[in-house]
Amino acid sequence: PAPGWTADTDIVVIGSGVAGLVAALNCRPHGRVLLVTKALLDAGSTRWAQGGVAAALDPADTPGEHLADTLTAGVGLCSQDAVRALVTDGPDAVRRLIALGAEFDRAPGGDLALGREGGHHRRRIAHAGGDATGAEISRALRAALKESDVEVIEHALVLDLLLDAAGRAAGVTLHVMGQGRPGGVGAVRARAVVLATGGLGQVFAATTNPEVSTGDGVALALRAGAAVTDLEFVQFHPTALWLGPDARGRQPLISEAVRGEGAHLVDRSGTRFMVGRHELAELAPRDVVAKGIMSRMAETGERHMLLDAREFGADLWERRFPTILAACRFHGIDPVTEPIPVVPAAHYASGGIRTDLHGRTTVPGLYACGETACTGVHGANRLASNSLLEGLVFAERIAAAVGAELGEPGPAVAPSGPSGLLDGGARDAIQRIMSADAGVLRDAAGLDRAARALDALAPSPDVAPDVAAWEATNLHAVASAIVAAARRRTETRGSHWRDDHPERDDAAWRGHLVTRRADAGL
Ligand code: SIN
Repeated sequence: PAPGWTADTDIVVIGSGVAGLVAALNCRPHGRVLLVTKALLDAGSTRWAQGGVAAALDPADTPGEHLADTLTAGVGLCSQDAVRALVTDGPDAVRRLIALGAEFDRAPGGDLALGREGGHHRRRIAHAGGDATGAEISRALRAALKESDVEVIEHALVLDLLLDAAGRAAGVTLHVMGQGRPGGVGAVRARAVVLATGGLGQVFAATTNPEVSTGDGVALALRAGAAVTDLEFVQFHPTALWLGPDARGRQPLISEAVRGEGAHLVDRSGTRFMVGRHELAELAPRDVVAKGIMSRMAETGERHMLLDAREFGADLWERRFPTILAACRFHGIDPVTEPIPVVPAAHYASGGIRTDLHGRTTVPGLYACGETACTGVHGANRLASNSLLEGLVFAERIAAAVGAELGEPGPAVAPSGPSGLLDGGARDAIQRIMSADAGVLRDAAGLDRAARALDALAPSPDVAPDVAAWEATNLHAVASAIVAAARRRTETRGSHWRDDHPERDDAAWRGHLVTRRADAGL
């Protein structure tokens, strides 16, 4: 539909997790900034992040060791330059966050209390409120935003990118739900567009991601012709709370930090099945632990595994993991006295919109950071607690680039939107298809079935353009792109697990799959 209203700014930032908030605050010295977010400012994944922010903050730790652990977790597909930027800029980025007002947990002497998580050979995870790190980071950044003159529009779903005749980003179209603003479709003209729209976990039936994580940025980028890469690498967090075989939507997370403090994974007979599978046992990288759990479930016929942290006692549970304790008790499990039933759930997109080291996408004037981006730091499997750090570091790097290269796009031509939309009810079908055949364990037959089932969900020009329809359409585009990439990569690597190609194949597959518009059926 034609925009009913237009607005002008210099830089429009889409999304209000750690990446969007840091990008908006840091871009402000370079021009007028408008931040647009789909729901409330704190509705995205950041506020749910538990474990923390990984950075070499301990005097005995080094960025080099953090780099080595990140490269190992990424199974040969990380960009060394991107990881170097992450681990080198990381400690100061965390200190800047602290200077801005974020309060991290401290050890008795006053130093930062550092936790440990899977794949890290050291304690290097800064955390807040015990296990409420994302909520504290979001609070501090939103407070800073309030003090700034960054303009904010909440309850506005980004639709498509506006381009000028030369192919340079010239703004975005929005569907505004109307809270205090003109509702309906609007257009924001801008000299630079920063996408920080977060993840795509809602592509799957059970995920740790909130309802808003529908891959809007990746879908927009695909429609705009930007390169998207590594989409087959969707990370499954090993330990979501098991809520029964038909659990749907956002599942409570049991942070890796619980294993970092010494909890053990066991099957019903009490066997620690991760011992002997990896030198780090329960603290192996996330893909290894998720596979260990799935394999043990297949071997024993059990529907979940158990995380035993009874040894912590009530005191440690209450002090270190109050959020998780409350979530477990809400669901009738008391981890102080009984083991926690856990299963893997879709957690994080290691791939996304391809960017360089300053967040530039393949479309001039379009930048991306946070989970929607693929900077190259995660490779085939993200290292625990590198995501908040990536949001912090690369949002700052984008701001530096935007400041140096703010262009003057020409008049916008019509956005290349979808030919039609899917009904909002298709979301459920997409989630079922993806969890059944393109989830943690994949093979050719299942992926072919998923591709056929997704193809059968045809968008129609007659569907009313409401938010549910746009989200279902975006989920469909992203799901189709994931399946296309997963079918092509005939090997097992990181979080992409092909049952019919169980080995890693470095000779054929030590490279990246780039997805374009046509691969997503657009
Ligand atoms: C967790 O706390 O286990 C999640 C941390 C992450 O996803 O990096």
